[in-house]
Amino acid sequence: MKLGKVEFCHFLQLIALFLCFSGMSQAELSRSRSKPYFQSGRSRTKRSWVWNQFFVLEEYMGSDPLYVGKLHSDVDKGDGSIKYILSGEGASSIFIIDENTGDIHATKRLDREEQAYYTLRAQALDRLTNKPVEPESEFVIKIQDINDNEPKFLDGPYTAGVPEMSPVGTSVVQVTATDADDPTYGNSARVVYSILQGQPYFSVEPKTGVIKTALPNMDREAKDQYLLVIQAKDMVGQNGGLSGTTSVTVTLTDVNDNPPRFPRRSYQYNVPESLPVASVVARIKAADADIGANAEMEYKIVDGDGFGIFKISVDKDTQEGIITIQKDLDFEAKTSYTLRIEAANRDADPRFLSLGPFSDTTTVKIIVEDVDEPPVFSSPLYPMEVSEATQVGNIIGTVAAHDPDSSNSPVRYSIDRNTDLERYFNIDANSGVITTAKSLDRETNAVHNITVLAMESQNPSQIGRGYVAITILDINDNAPEFAMDYETTVCENAQPGQVIQKISAVDKDEPSNGHQFYFSLTTDATNNHNFSLKDNKDNTASILTRRNGFRRQEQSVYYLPVFIVDSGSPSLSSTNTLTIRVCDCDADGVAQTCNAEAYVLPAGLSTGALIAILACVLTLLATPHTIGDLSSLTRDRTHVSCIGSIES
Ligand SMILES: *[C@@H]1O[C@H](CO)[C@@H](O)[C@H](O)[C@H]1NC(C)=O
Ligand SMILES: *[C@@H]1O[C@H](CO)[C@@H](O)[C@H](O)[C@H]1NC(C)=O
Repeated sequence: MKLGKVEFCHFLQLIALFLCFSGMSQAELSRSRSKPYFQSGRSRTKRSWVWNQFFVLEEYMGSDPLYVGKLHSDVDKGDGSIKYILSGEGASSIFIIDENTGDIHATKRLDREEQAYYTLRAQALDRLTNKPVEPESEFVIKIQDINDNEPKFLDGPYTAGVPEMSPVGTSVVQVTATDADDPTYGNSARVVYSILQGQPYFSVEPKTGVIKTALPNMDREAKDQYLLVIQAKDMVGQNGGLSGTTSVTVTLTDVNDNPPRFPRRSYQYNVPESLPVASVVARIKAADADIGANAEMEYKIVDGDGFGIFKISVDKDTQEGIITIQKDLDFEAKTSYTLRIEAANRDADPRFLSLGPFSDTTTVKIIVEDVDEPPVFSSPLYPMEVSEATQVGNIIGTVAAHDPDSSNSPVRYSIDRNTDLERYFNIDANSGVITTAKSLDRETNAVHNITVLAMESQNPSQIGRGYVAITILDINDNAPEFAMDYETTVCENAQPGQVIQKISAVDKDEPSNGHQFYFSLTTDATNNHNFSLKDNKDNTASILTRRNGFRRQEQSVYYLPVFIVDSGSPSLSSTNTLTIRVCDCDADGVAQTCNAEAYVLPAGLSTGALIAILACVLTLLATPHTIGDLSSLTRDRTHVSCIGSIES
């Protein structure tokens, strides 16, 4: 059964011919799709629409409306009784229909990439009755793609890196272009990649856009960056295709393909012998064209006569080798050193070892320069001893210093007066002999630490320092004396032979075997009938009564001269007077009342404390119970508890 003819083949273009055929096949599909519609309710009705899917080219630029196609019903006898009506997407705005002829035109430029299909509905009405002569049916206007979109690199521009010296064909990066045209139809969206800039170093795979290295031995040290321009062209890259480009910046990354090399075969440095240990003598650097870890250096001393004297380490920032001194230099001992220094890359790349060893050596000569050095004493410290009895001008000892320089200038000695402010000592400027300048006293200053200066007579700014510790030796030049001021009392009820005082002595001298004191009463007191002295032979002596019946009213104070002798050679002695007061004592021999005139307040007791003691005694007397208790207490204990209660 024949349904009608396809009218849009009027559109005379090459493409139109193709569309015509594809339109036919689309018509078949369309018909089979719309079959169920006809079968429902009007299954008997003979279908008489001239029916199609229409195709219209996008981007039509002409001034007249573009002819799309023609609706036709077999019922239409061409007598004008049939009216065609269009509805649906874009009806009457984009697509208009001639209601008499059924011709459809597009009034606007269409863009497939904006909308690829329009779905419309067609009706054929009897112009008189306005009744449909055909069932309403849906049809599609498909916008036909033309190649109106160029490929675009949405991710460009690209940056990428590849190691230098990579083999040919090493992948660098993949670039991708997208084309908005219809990928399912024709070649409008089929792109091919090519390289416009960057040859002969790099290539691009036409289909995949993978960029690869195209030259071997690309050397970062020669050129480290390349700017590539990659083109994507649609229509499979053929003439007339649209194209887009992107740039790819390729950076060659470093590999360790350059060994370190000293720029010079030898170096020479002059160093003053006075340079302190740990000082930097020299900085040398092996050149390395690589960067980063591939240029990291290790230095070592591999030969020469400077082992132990010099050390080389690496400055992590500059990769320089730093030579430092490890021991004091001495021009007078050795005037030059030769070091063989090796520099090596920390990380060598085995691939490039064939280029030669990744290390290099150089010679560093270090010339030690003479420096005018101050005189040096033969000893850092001179201990000396001298008796405090020594005569002024006597020799104590001798110091010696010499100029270490080869000139060996004579030196002159002096005493640093800041260390001998009182000028006890002199030094002979030429001989270094130290003598006393005034008499010494061990008991004032037992040790004199003095500094002696040695000055080069040619160059007074060169001063060496020596230290002398002069110990003053003791002589027995101090007599012994009482160890303290004794407060001695004797009770009126004292019995003969009673010890009333134990005495000891002190002496400012310091005999090497320790003190030995001898006590006695002076010769004029040996016939003393009142007191006697007993030397305890342990540097103490006891004073005893010789009689009883001491009376305050009779004699309230006795003065007893005590003679003390030391064991020095010769020995020294002194007479010290012991003051003995007579007191009224209780039954236990504790003094109650002494002669007021002779009463000396114990040092350290304030008047306030004394008043407190008196108040305490009064309180004790005023309390009957306490008085009774008092007899059973010693005088001392009462005294102590009173002080305690008042102070708290
Ligand atoms: C002298 O020097 C020694 C150390 O050398 C020190 O122990 C001593 O206290 C010094 N004496 C004086 C009096 O400065
Ligand atoms: C001993 O005591 C008596 C009586 O007080 C006195 O006269 C005499 O001078 C005293 N002797 C000495 C040596 O002090």
